[in-house]
Amino acid sequence: MPNRKSRPQKRRRRSIIAFEMIRLDRTGTEPLHEQLYRQIRDELKSGRFSEGSSRLPSSRALATDQGISRSTVRLALSKLHAEGYLRSKSGSGTFVANLLPETFLTADQPKTYESIRRPARVSDRVRAIPDQRVGKEFDLGATGAGQGVSLVASIPAVDEFPIAIWERLRAQVLAKKGVNLLRYSSNRGDADLRKAIAAYLCDFRAARCQPDQIVIVAGMQQAMLISAMAVLNPGESAWIEDPCYQQTRRVLSLAGVKIVPKAIDTHGIIIARSPKEPLPRMIYVTPSHQFPLGVTMSFQRRTDLLDFARAHNAFIFEDDYDAEFRFVGPPLPSLQGIDNASRVIYAGTVSKILCPSLRLGYIVAPEQLIDSFVKIRSAMDQHSSPIEQATLARFITEGFFLSHIKRMRKIYAERRDFFIKQFNELLGDRFTLQVPEAGLNIVAWLKREEDFPVIKRITSEIGVRPSTLSFFCIQAKLKPAFVFGFAAWTPTQIRESLVKLASALKTTAKI
Ligand SMILES: Cc1ncc(COP(=O)(O)O)c(C=O)c1O
Repeated sequence: MPNRKSRPQKRRRRSIIAFEMIRLDRTGTEPLHEQLYRQIRDELKSGRFSEGSSRLPSSRALATDQGISRSTVRLALSKLHAEGYLRSKSGSGTFVANLLPETFLTADQPKTYESIRRPARVSDRVRAIPDQRVGKEFDLGATGAGQGVSLVASIPAVDEFPIAIWERLRAQVLAKKGVNLLRYSSNRGDADLRKAIAAYLCDFRAARCQPDQIVIVAGMQQAMLISAMAVLNPGESAWIEDPCYQQTRRVLSLAGVKIVPKAIDTHGIIIARSPKEPLPRMIYVTPSHQFPLGVTMSFQRRTDLLDFARAHNAFIFEDDYDAEFRFVGPPLPSLQGIDNASRVIYAGTVSKILCPSLRLGYIVAPEQLIDSFVKIRSAMDQHSSPIEQATLARFITEGFFLSHIKRMRKIYAERRDFFIKQFNELLGDRFTLQVPEAGLNIVAWLKREEDFPVIKRITSEIGVRPSTLSFFCIQAKLKPAFVFGFAAWTPTQIRESLVKLASALKTTAKI
C-alpha cells in the first residue's frame, strides 16, 4: 500500500480576484448592495478572469475591504449567483462560472476591430530588423528548435548542465549575501564575477585584461548592442562577416548601423575593399572559428585586421562564443590577447559553455570605452540578475566551470566523431561534410545542387532540421549547403535522425 501521508498533495492553484477597482458611493441613492452587484458584474463581464479557476474573496474579506456589512455583500453575491455569473463549490469557495451567461460572452470585450482593420504604425526600426517571424514563431526563440526537432545548429547539451550544483551554490550565495542580492546592483557587474572571468580569460584565452575592464552583460547579443551603441552613430558603418550569425544583423539593425557584408576566404574575413565601400567604425568577427563556415582566422589575417583597425581608427568586435570547444590542436589565443593598440572589444557568453537561458555574458572593453559601455548598460536595463551573477562567480572560483568545460569537450568530441562517421555512411552520397576544428556545428555541402529544394522541404517535414547555409548569407552566393548541429543529441538520437533523413530522401522519387 502506498503511504498516503508521504505522497505530496496535489493542489490546483486558484487565483483570488482582488476587486481593487470597486468604489462604493455612500452619498448616492443607489443601495450599496446594488452598487456592489453592478460593479462586480461589470468586472466579470470584462472577461479578464479565467472561468472556473478564478475565485472570489470570501464575503467576510469583501465586507472588511469595502467597509460594509456581510449581509450587504451576501445580497450582491446572491443576485450574481442567481444570474449565473458565479458558482459555489462546497468547502472551496465561490468561483467565476464555468459556463458564462450569454450576455457575459458578448459584453464589454475590448474593441479590437479597429486595430485589426488598420495595422498599428510602427517605427522604421522595427521594419529594419531582418526577422520574418510572427506571433507564436517567437516562442521558439532565436534557434527555432521546438520539441521533437533534431540536429538544429548551435544548440548545446543543456541536459548535461549540473543543475544540482548550481542550485546548491545559489542557495549558498543567497544565504551568505541575503538581501544584498535583492537590491539594484552594479552596472558593471558583480565584482567577484568580474575577477573570476578576468582570471579565466587571461589563463585560458590568453587575453590581457583587468577585472575593471569587464562588463557583465545579458549574453552576446547585448554585448553587441552595447558596443554598437557606444561606438557607432546611427548610419555609420560596421563590417560583418558574410555569411554571419543572424542575430548580429538583427542587433546592428536595431542600433541603426549601416551593415557592410564582407566575404570569407580560407583565412577568415576579407579585408580588401573597393574604393566605394565605406570604412567601418566597427568590424564584427568570429576568429576562433567563423560562424557558420567554421574557418579559423589565420595568424596573418589577425595581424592584418589589427593593423587595418589601427590605421582606420576602427574597433574590432571579437565574438568568442564557443572557443572552448576546439577538438583539433591547441586552443588559439584570442585576438584581444595580441592587440597592442586597444582596438579589440572582446565578448564571451555562457550560452554554449553552460546554457543559453542564463542570459549571461561578458565584454572585455578597451579601457577608453569602459565608462561608455557601462553608461549604456545602465540606461538599458541596469544589470543582470545579481543572484545568478554571484552563483556563476562561485561556480567559476570553485572549479566547476573548468571541470564542466572539460567534461563537455569530451562529450562533444564523441558526438562529433559519431556524427561524422554516421553521416558519411548514411548520407555521404548526397553531401560532402566540411569538418571544422572547433564548435558545435558542421556544414554539409550538397553534391548535386539541384537536390536543394527537395532536401529543404524534407528536413522541415521530418523534424531533422539543419539550417540552410543561405539563411546566414547576406550577399554571399555560396553553393547550397546545410548547417547541422550535433551537440545536443546523444549518439542514439543522432543515428535515429540521420537514418530518418536518409530514408526520407531515399523514398522521395525525385532524388
Ligand atoms: C556566433 C554566435 N555568437 C553568439 C551566440 C550566442 O549568443 P548569446 O550569448 O546572445 O546567446 C551564438 C549562438 O548561437 C552564435 O552562433
